[in-house]
Amino acid sequence: MTTDNLTNWRVLALFMLGTFFSVAVVWYLRAEPNMPVPYVIAEDDGMMCLQGNMGRKALLLIENYSRNHPAFLQMSDFFWEKNQSVYQLPYGTQGSEEILLKVLALTMRYDMPDRVQSLPCWRCVVVGNGHRLKNSSLGDVINKYDIVMRLNNAPVHKYEHDVGNKTTLRLFYPESADFDPHLQNNPDSLMVLVPFKTPDIQWLKAVLNNEKRSRKGFWKSPPLIWDVKPENVRILNPYFMEVTASKLLNVSIKPPRKNKEKPTTGLLAITFALHICDVVHIAGFGYPETTNKKQTIHYYEQITLTSMADSDHNVSHEAQAIRRLLEARIIRNLTRF
Ligand SMILES: *[C@@H]1O[C@H](CO)[C@@H](O)[C@H](O)[C@H]1NC(C)=O
Ligand SMILES: *[C@@H]1O[C@H](CO)[C@@H](O)[C@H](O)[C@H]1NC(C)=O
Ligand SMILES: *[C@@H]1O[C@H](CO)[C@@H](O)[C@H](O)[C@H]1NC(C)=O
Ligand SMILES: *[C@@H]1O[C@H](CO)[C@@H](O)[C@H](O)[C@H]1NC(C)=O
Ligand SMILES: *[C@@H]1O[C@H](CO)[C@@H](O)[C@H](O)[C@H]1NC(C)=O
Ligand SMILES: *[C@@H]1O[C@H](CO)[C@@H](O)[C@H](O)[C@H]1NC(C)=O
Ligand SMILES: *[C@@H]1O[C@H](CO)[C@@H](O)[C@H](O)[C@H]1NC(C)=O
Repeated sequence: MTTDNLTNWRVLALFMLGTFFSVAVVWYLRAEPNMPVPYVIAEDDGMMCLQGNMGRKALLLIENYSRNHPAFLQMSDFFWEKNQSVYQLPYGTQGSEEILLKVLALTMRYDMPDRVQSLPCWRCVVVGNGHRLKNSSLGDVINKYDIVMRLNNAPVHKYEHDVGNKTTLRLFYPESADFDPHLQNNPDSLMVLVPFKTPDIQWLKAVLNNEKRSRKGFWKSPPLIWDVKPENVRILNPYFMEVTASKLLNVSIKPPRKNKEKPTTGLLAITFALHICDVVHIAGFGYPETTNKKQTIHYYEQITLTSMADSDHNVSHEAQAIRRLLEARIIRNLTRF
């Protein structure tokens, strides 16, 4: 090789290196969700995975949206009083630090399992418990997502054709916990406790540690035996409940709370997905008209809207929030909403 040739190769190599870095920098800037890159909403981005897209879309509706919050509580949050939470449960951890530290010492794991972490893209479907899943035949479609989130005690067994049989995460609280978690989940499903109140954390400690259970403080008896491996249990960071209430529903979370409205696990799961997933689709969301007293609301049981009358949830208010997300194309629906 002559000197000239060598120089040419060097110039070419430098040029290519330079191009590579520019592309990398541009890619990095585009992927940074907090950069105000103008976002053009695509007609139909379906299952395509564009990293950074979710961040830009969510910023349109959620002020100060950030993907930097840990999904789950970790033991280190409560050592040396690191996280001085401003709010009490369900919007923060103030006053529950001690019991949380004890439970987190039992579960030992605070992150997504490796098999989820290693996925290049997190395409998520949040499966609501709504009646519209009945006869939907969506089972195979739902199973294809990278992450399938389910809610409360929604069954899978015998409903596979409509709701699938894959459960990556299940969000629940003690009163909504399944009595037979093995039947309704996969051996590696993550069971994610949504803590509404301190007794919820005491319940988790008692069932994991096989201590004396108390029924005090619950509005419905939670399972006294709940056979799940501690390493499959997580506690959701209350940050997502705070965002759901204050940003998606615009209800005040500062005490004294005159408005008792609290988000449902369903809306909470959508908010959570918006913060961790690259694609968020929903199925089985939506309630019948408030005047429709006969229509059952779930795909697996015969209860109607009347059963929600005394709850602190406002389903029409939540429907407005979900509709805004759908209209801004931040999420998509697999069933009529
Ligand atoms: C957004 O963040 C800014 C700066 O931290 C803060 O002043 C503002 O109150 C936040 N807005 C909301 C709605 O959280
Ligand atoms: C703990 O603090 C970190 C950093 O300030 C924050 O991102 C995280 O959401 C906090 N976690 C909780 C549970 O408040
Ligand atoms: C579902 O299909 C069954 C059997 O065809 C039918 O009896 C039932 O009415 C259908 N339910 C709904 C909600 O479509
Ligand atoms: C779901 O069902 C299919 C077909 O029966 C089966 O092959 C698969 O292992 C099941 N998946 C899980 C996660 O249970
Ligand atoms: C949120 O609620 C407050 C007080 O209830 C109100 O002043 C404000 O306009 C609302 N913001 C939005 C975006 O609806
Ligand atoms: C529920 O939300 C709707 C729509 O925001 C509102 O009009 C209604 O007053 C709320 N109901 C209650 C009981 O607060
Ligand atoms: C999503 O909801 C809209 C409004 O109800 C409906 O027109 C559309 O068909 C739904 N999409 C699917 C895939 O069901």
